[in-house]
Amino acid sequence: MAKLTCDYNFAASKNLLGGISEEDLQAYKKKAALGYERLQAMVNDGKVGFPHLPKYDTTELKEFAKDVKTNFNDLIVVGIGGSALGIEAVVNAVLPYGYNAMSYTDRGCLPRVWVADNVDPSKIQSILKICTPEDTFAVVISKSGNTVETAENYSLIHEWFKSNVQDLKKHIVVVTDPNKGPLREYATQNNLKTFPIEASIGGRFSVMSPVGLVPAAFLGIDIDKMLAGAASITDEGIEQVMTLAAIYLYFMDKGKSINVLMPYSSRLDKFAEWFCQLWGESLGKKYTMDGKEITFGTTPVRTVGAIDQHSQIQLFREGPLDKVVTFIGLETHDNDVSVKGDFYEAFSYLNGLHLGKLLNSELKATEAALLTSKVPSLKIGLNILDEYSLGQLFMLFQYIVPIIGLSVNINPFDQPGVEEAKEYAYGMMNRTGFEAKKTQFEEIYKKDDAFII
Ligand code: PA5
Repeated sequence: MAKLTCDYNFAASKNLLGGISEEDLQAYKKKAALGYERLQAMVNDGKVGFPHLPKYDTTELKEFAKDVKTNFNDLIVVGIGGSALGIEAVVNAVLPYGYNAMSYTDRGCLPRVWVADNVDPSKIQSILKICTPEDTFAVVISKSGNTVETAENYSLIHEWFKSNVQDLKKHIVVVTDPNKGPLREYATQNNLKTFPIEASIGGRFSVMSPVGLVPAAFLGIDIDKMLAGAASITDEGIEQVMTLAAIYLYFMDKGKSINVLMPYSSRLDKFAEWFCQLWGESLGKKYTMDGKEITFGTTPVRTVGAIDQHSQIQLFREGPLDKVVTFIGLETHDNDVSVKGDFYEAFSYLNGLHLGKLLNSELKATEAALLTSKVPSLKIGLNILDEYSLGQLFMLFQYIVPIIGLSVNINPFDQPGVEEAKEYAYGMMNRTGFEAKKTQFEEIYKKDDAFII
């Protein structure tokens, strides 16, 4: 069983000037405990459901997935934000690099996977050019059923299917709210197979609901193992959750306005992207829940080791001391291999060196280098990266983030700041009900040619 460790040596005052002392840690743990208490109250009231997700009964889904796994060559996931980032993180972490380029047999006779998130025409057009409608299955995911990008991409896919397949129902599954929204109505009217996203599951907390599980099951990913990993955090990991939440809160109070996640594995690149949404959308809030101005939040930054040692580490070490860095390290890397290095004298020091060992040495080297520059860092350690440990990582941060938010009484589950731009865009598209937004937008969006050079 994968063991997750949290190492805060280089964030502690014993090693780092300005680091957290034992006394501060205890004080900030009390603050985190308040957040946890508030979270538990919301869970008990049925307002927040993510802690229950590991109990999701996967029987029906796994049964349904058998057909998709065996009968289709391509899977298109249509969704954006919380309805896409989770499955992208799962695919990136669990499936081999270059999976889509592998032969059908090398893929374990499972479909290739494409995520249609952005409405960038070149992306969706390429996907539709590569896939053939007869051999493609699509999962359309939207909690609200209302998201313009998802509606636009799906419209295109629908047209593509319509002119090429006999029975649309055999090619589509919809993941949306169980009762409301245009996508739910559409699915009901057209007798499409659906999987519900419960009201208590917010987009960025939904990777272990049908939002992530449905496409993952279609790709033969062990969803039960992922859920078991997530459950282990609730059962055994709350102490780690509280400690990390307390340390982040401490450094936020100390003015560290940037939170960097730096996994030393390219397989966690998309996980870092998922983390950025979770952290940014949940914690960036202007008001507390009782309406007081607070302007809370720190900026999440996604990096990957060792790549960013050749890029952002320069800034982290010698730029402003406004960052806290969280590394994720793997004890064992899949497919590890050693090199000979005997083809040229200058490279002979590499002889017998495993890539995984080099990567892990570089991680330690970067931890040490940041310490000498007085940059606090934490390290989450996994012995391997698989469905189980990925489930642990998801759940760890799904707890940490709302605990931080609720400890200062902001709402980590809403995103009022994203509405304005959406509504202006609806206005520009002449969507009924958004006429006033269109007028408001036209009043604001006035630009002078003198400032365009
Ligand atoms: O976290 C969130 O709530 C958002 O990022 C949503 O997931 C995103 O806007 C997509 O929404 P929907 O699933 O309703 O299409």
